[in-house]
Amino acid sequence: MSKKKGIVFSGARPTGRQHLGNYLGAIQNYVALQKDYQCIYCIVDIHALTTMESTLELRQNSYEMALDWLAAGMDPQESVIFIQSHVPEVTELHTYLSMVTPLGKLTDLPTFKEKVRQHPDNVNYGLLGYPILMAADILLYRANYVPVGIDQAPHLEFARELVRSFNFRYNTNVLVEPHMKATKVPKVLGTDGQQKMSKSLNNHIELAATPEETTKRVMTMVTDPARQRRSDPGNPDVCNVFSFHKIFSSPEEIEMVNRECRVAGIGCVDCKKLLAQNINKHLEPFRARRIDLDQKPEAVMDVLHDGGKRARVLAEETMVLVRDAIGLPSTK
Ligand code: TRP
Repeated sequence: MSKKKGIVFSGARPTGRQHLGNYLGAIQNYVALQKDYQCIYCIVDIHALTTMESTLELRQNSYEMALDWLAAGMDPQESVIFIQSHVPEVTELHTYLSMVTPLGKLTDLPTFKEKVRQHPDNVNYGLLGYPILMAADILLYRANYVPVGIDQAPHLEFARELVRSFNFRYNTNVLVEPHMKATKVPKVLGTDGQQKMSKSLNNHIELAATPEETTKRVMTMVTDPARQRRSDPGNPDVCNVFSFHKIFSSPEEIEMVNRECRVAGIGCVDCKKLLAQNINKHLEPFRARRIDLDQKPEAVMDVLHDGGKRARVLAEETMVLVRDAIGLPSTK
């Protein structure tokens, strides 16, 4: 495919506008990997269906996420960026893989049990098969590396086992065992300072927000709870605002905040104002590109359609080998 060091595949559910947690935890890494790897990035709309009751926002959410990806520097010239359902071969591979999947393996997965807890009224067959579909995503492109958060480790281990089972059962080596590429970034907490940043908890800061909205959000951030009054000294080590300073502020500013907070030299309001300013500065080029892209939605969709076509060529190559390895009657 290219001179790069291997194939990277990753997928994300279309959650619409992305937030700082997505950006620091995944998107920045996706962008960085493009230099050394042939990257394939997928908006997994079929996966989204497993927990969705209404699909009204599915198209809009896929589009908004694509805008954020492209504006952040995920480059369709370098990488294949596409929507999962545009390559229907993934559902075919999912079916073949399901034949070598013991049911108990699926029901045992912690991610499945968690979903059952969250959506007890919507435990469908697709939800059970979620990890097989995810494995099909990765294996369809014979990816070597999968950059995902640690929460996805059981799914990746599952995919690796599927490769071994499939290759053993059909006495082949067409499927390739993928490796997890753990992301080094720390867990990004939301504005509540307690839980991981997420849209559903409404503790997030959107990348596409205006500078004013961003500042408003930052001003609501929970700080060191022991610091009640302006005159109380604070402890940056337990303050989520400081964690963000470490990412977005200059070394001198970080040093200043760290020092002055401890002696009540700087108050939380000023500390947050500085942070908001720095986040806004950091996101300025991103926001300009995003607004620009949003002027021509058809061009954004063209990028995704083109990515889908390229992905489909790769997928078909694998599927010819897979069908043959299984021993399905040939079509010609
Ligand atoms: N399950 C992943 C998540 O919830 C999304 C996903 C689907 C994925 N297919 C994938 C991630 C393939 C990596 C590779 O985050």
